[in-house]
Amino acid sequence: MTKKNRMILNLLLSPAGSHRGAWRHPDTRLEELHDIRHYHRLARLAEQARIDSLFLADGLSVEVEAVRHGPILSFEPLTLLSSIASVTEHIGLIATASTTFGEPYHTARFFSSLDAISGGRAGWNIVTTGVERTAYNFGLAGLPPHALRYERASEFTEVVLKLWDSWEEGALVQDQAAGLYADPAKVHEICHEGVHFSVRGALNAVRCPQGRPLLVQAGASEEGRNLAARFAEMIFTVQPTLEEARAFYRDIKRRTALAGRSPERLKVLPGLLVNVGATEAEAEQKAAELRAIVSVERSVMSLSNLLGMDFSAYSLDDPFPPLPEPQDVNAYHSFHALVRGITSQERLTIREFVHKHWSGSGQLAVTGTPKQVADVMEAWFLGGAADGFNVMPQLAFGGVEAFLGLVVPELQRRGLFPDRYTGRTLRENLGLEGL
Ligand SMILES: Cc1cc2nc3c(=O)[nH]c(=O)nc-3n(C[C@H](O)[C@H](O)[C@H](O)COP(=O)(O)O)c2cc1C
Repeated sequence: MTKKNRMILNLLLSPAGSHRGAWRHPDTRLEELHDIRHYHRLARLAEQARIDSLFLADGLSVEVEAVRHGPILSFEPLTLLSSIASVTEHIGLIATASTTFGEPYHTARFFSSLDAISGGRAGWNIVTTGVERTAYNFGLAGLPPHALRYERASEFTEVVLKLWDSWEEGALVQDQAAGLYADPAKVHEICHEGVHFSVRGALNAVRCPQGRPLLVQAGASEEGRNLAARFAEMIFTVQPTLEEARAFYRDIKRRTALAGRSPERLKVLPGLLVNVGATEAEAEQKAAELRAIVSVERSVMSLSNLLGMDFSAYSLDDPFPPLPEPQDVNAYHSFHALVRGITSQERLTIREFVHKHWSGSGQLAVTGTPKQVADVMEAWFLGGAADGFNVMPQLAFGGVEAFLGLVVPELQRRGLFPDRYTGRTLRENLGLEGL
């Protein structure tokens, strides 16, 4: 297996699991959901299985009514991943940070620290934030328009890169005899004067082990794709079918080439909502248990946030309401396109839509035996639809173990996934170094 023809596996860490009903499942140990040891345990298990990286999603607001229906996030991602860094050695650590709410100097510093603490394993999931209420936590009356958010994201990322490079390699000298700690000639104040940011100064941290932590992106609007093509090394995406995933894959690789980069430098990872059992019957039973406890109301809240749409005037048994035109959406364009695709083909009530498509936010969902799950992954990987997967076990308790213990060995047997880490940093382990 060469680095080129092997799959990348990222594991999304979620308190109870990626199914919205997971917290109510009897296997979930509720007392652990806000306990750091739960995340340490999952991270160690993932590392033993040689998972490439862990990913923490994040938001900067909470919908008060939604807290009734399940855990929100557990801990702030960079803090949590710093803690995980101290109990792991190899696994990559990818945290989400918003470019709409935050400053490049802070972000550059936080990720440089995580990279140093973890010995070169940090990644930054660059997000623009599309949930309206977030603005109210940061002194704004509403979200800036979608296009402006991406314009800011682009400049934000440029500034972060400049700051990471403000310390040249070799700037840290530590020559006790000469009395030279670091060489000022190799530490540069950046002079960035742009539309959104003005930054004059160097980063107040030595160059981190990767130099530049890994850049990840997850928006699939035109602007999101272009941002990824320009900067990202990994893109997370929601692709419900093989055909759509192939089209997305081709498009993103084409854009990467147009941006002047080798398409190999951007790895495409569709989400995979997975529920695996030793037998088909076992997996089906888990799926039925989860279906019985999922809150339809909570799923509608998620839809409402992602689409920026008010569903309160409708009953759950009403037909799915018409969606706004794309140009009128100031929330998440990718989710809008996804829902539009489904509702233009199927006539469903809101309840039916949610049950069928939204317990995992529209991701590719596979329930089955290790062989069945691996078959789908192999078909997507070899079929030009994915370089790997953003794996989202439906249940954190038991579901993560099942994926790691049953599916990963199956992929390894098929020669699709390596069985050891060979690099020092996350970028090296992903085979991205030197591309
Ligand atoms: C798998 C995946 C994970 C994401 N994680 C986050 C997240 O943790 N926080 C967030 O604010 N947005 C997250 N997003 C949203 C995107 O990063 C992006 O900001 C959003 O889709 C809006 O961009 P778009 O209009 O280009 O789709 C995620 C999207 C995907 C597909």
